[in-house]
Amino acid sequence: KKDFWIAPSILSADMAKLGQEVDNAMSAGADIVHFDVMDNHYVPNLTIGPLVCKGLRDHGVTNPIDVHLMVSPVDRIVGDFAEAGASFITFHPEASPHVDRTLGLIKSYGCKAGLVFNPATPLDHAKYVLDKVDIILLMSVNPGFGGQSFIPSTLDKLREARKMIDESGYDIRLEVDGGCGVANIKEIAEAGADMFVAGSAIFNNPRTEENYKETIDKMRS
Ligand code: DX5
Ligand code: ZN
Repeated sequence: KKDFWIAPSILSADMAKLGQEVDNAMSAGADIVHFDVMDNHYVPNLTIGPLVCKGLRDHGVTNPIDVHLMVSPVDRIVGDFAEAGASFITFHPEASPHVDRTLGLIKSYGCKAGLVFNPATPLDHAKYVLDKVDIILLMSVNPGFGGQSFIPSTLDKLREARKMIDESGYDIRLEVDGGCGVANIKEIAEAGADMFVAGSAIFNNPRTEENYKETIDKMRS
């Protein structure tokens, strides 16, 4: 039986009460915190940085923090996130001129490393670095904003990525990010994903732990 991870994206949480929001989502049964970093350069939006990551650790968050970097350049900010308490650091291969070096840099800090593929980006970027990758993250929306709808062609791409991972024999998570919720998580899981980001599906309800639990339970079942 597969070990599925639900990763609430705090992009959709109440930013003025972030510590409490993360506590509520985690005690509602989520596995990890998905932390979206946008720089108004690689993507047209601006969000949160290492200070906020460290703030969550200082607040007492013990779950893994999955830092999704939508920034360019990548290398300059990796150490700051590692020191701020990131567990996973993923980046877009288009945003870094030396993908192999960036993966090595992330791992040199003891973090798990991952590559993120935009909807139109082929999986080829992963081919020669599979031994250095702990996560393959497929974007099922164009990065930059929460609340967009799932792009259906991601399902075929997930099957392709699942095949690539299984054939490699490496222990690599297959994460999906964007437009994932109760209504479509079953087909996303059947296509091979084992790590599910959900922002608006979890947080765009009246913001109580009970509502988060209801959504997370439904997604898991
Ligand atoms: C989009 C972000 C996602 C986003 C997902 O660029 O990477 O993590 O928050 O939000 P939903 O689940 O609302 O599509
Ligand atoms: Zn994300």
